[in-house]
Amino acid sequence: MKTRVVASQIILPLLEATPSPTYEAKIRDAYANDGATSCEARIALEFKYAHLLTPTDEFNRKLVSYQANKEARLHNWLKYKEGFSAQLVENLLSKFGIGPGQKILEPFAGSATTLLVAKELGIDAIGVEILPVCHLAWEAKSKYREYNLNELRRVLKWAKETVPGQSTTAFPHITITESAFSPEQEANLMWYAEQFESLDLSEQTRLLLQLILMSILEDISYTRKDGQYLRWDSRAVKAQGRDARREAQGKPPFKTFDKGKILDAKEAFITALHQAICDIEAMQSNGELLSHQELIQGTILETLPKMEGGQFDAVITSPPYCNRYDYTRTYALELAFVGADEKAIRHLRQELLSCTVENHSKLERLERFYSSINRSVDFQVIVDVVSSNAALQEVFASIQTRGARGELNNKGVIRMVEGYFTELAFVIFELYRVCRAGAQVAIVNDNVRYGGEIIPVDLLMTDLAADFGFSPEAVYVLPQRKGNSSQQMGKYGREANRKSITIWAKH
Ligand SMILES: C[S@@+](CC[C@H](N)C(=O)[O-])C[C@H]1O[C@@H](n2cnc3c(N)ncnc32)[C@H](O)[C@@H]1O
Repeated sequence: MKTRVVASQIILPLLEATPSPTYEAKIRDAYANDGATSCEARIALEFKYAHLLTPTDEFNRKLVSYQANKEARLHNWLKYKEGFSAQLVENLLSKFGIGPGQKILEPFAGSATTLLVAKELGIDAIGVEILPVCHLAWEAKSKYREYNLNELRRVLKWAKETVPGQSTTAFPHITITESAFSPEQEANLMWYAEQFESLDLSEQTRLLLQLILMSILEDISYTRKDGQYLRWDSRAVKAQGRDARREAQGKPPFKTFDKGKILDAKEAFITALHQAICDIEAMQSNGELLSHQELIQGTILETLPKMEGGQFDAVITSPPYCNRYDYTRTYALELAFVGADEKAIRHLRQELLSCTVENHSKLERLERFYSSINRSVDFQVIVDVVSSNAALQEVFASIQTRGARGELNNKGVIRMVEGYFTELAFVIFELYRVCRAGAQVAIVNDNVRYGGEIIPVDLLMTDLAADFGFSPEAVYVLPQRKGNSSQQMGKYGREANRKSITIWAKH
């Protein structure tokens, strides 16, 4: 039975299955806070969708993260930690009964896991992705049938027999990547890049070699991707300079970080090329199902509204989480390597679905954009749904209160949360439009918590989806990671944030 939550008035929904008193107590306990903010609308939302919450082992954390891709042919050519696994995409496609002749959409394509699985299964697919790093990955991975194995083996032999020289060009550093490599590794890396430009090689081979060089940057650097930031090994000149400055100011040095063995460029390059050759050999021997896949470069907020309606049979995706992770910082080395300068990176950061504390509101721009495509009415519908969603408005108000009370680490969280859900509402509205009747949508996301306020991202998205016409079908809840002790849990001492896959259908 469908229910709506009307603005400023919480209507307890008529549930398919009324939650038991113990469940109700558990939810109230989880949301209970110091009384500074209201959580009634979120509790009502939990009750409204309680019947859809399905704990499952079918989609475990390994499948729903990059972990399972570490061993997966092709998918492990670029360690994209924010990705989900190929196996998850296969499972969802099979669950949805999608096969050759059908067409799917991946609005936040990342390292192109969904598109590559679609290619292997002969399913048409369109992806959208903003980061150029991911486009290089897609270009190189999707050409696996076109590589000349003999040429690649010759490059491997040459690389094994040749001592890398010193390049004449420098790595195209931006401020945050300065001193990421030892001078020797940087010179070797750039020497390989120069060689691959000048050697007599096919375009396909050049492309693959460029991806391989990009894929080894982290391994040969003093950095490690760590959620929101790049961590710096204490051996890096930058880390030493930073600590010296702190010491001069009488402050203690930052906690030391030792990354362990840092690979040299030759070793890392040979290992990665060898693995790519093995994968290509195996994949070229498989039969091919003809189909078409395309990755569109740009922001989903402006590409999706221009797509033709009613064309997709399924959507499988995972948007950036509302967790402050800044892809333009963690992938700064890779972005610089593919030619993004400071200005381009700042621009990309603002174009991301609001998931960092630096994102500005995109609402005015979206209004102009929808007007430019003669869809101002749709713009207004979306904005109205956001402003009349009681749980969402409660979240915005609570976060603002926590900010005003000085209980947020960074006040940018307020704008991020508002931007995140407002922009997601635009995406969800458009997903409904571009799906065919009968299509199913799977979205992987994580709930978050700021200033002690639980933000049930899965249910908020689901409620917006229902407002736009989707039928919520399931919220698969992944098993909790034991001993999860995030800062917030330490402080508030309750359960870990839910990680889930939400499933909606267009009837
Ligand atoms: C969680 S990752 C998706 C990973 C993907 N499922 C995979 O397996 O690699 C989210 C992706 O959304 C992209 N993204 C963020 N904002 C975007 C926007 N406005 N338009 C298009 N892509 C965006 C990010 O660059 C990131 O690659």
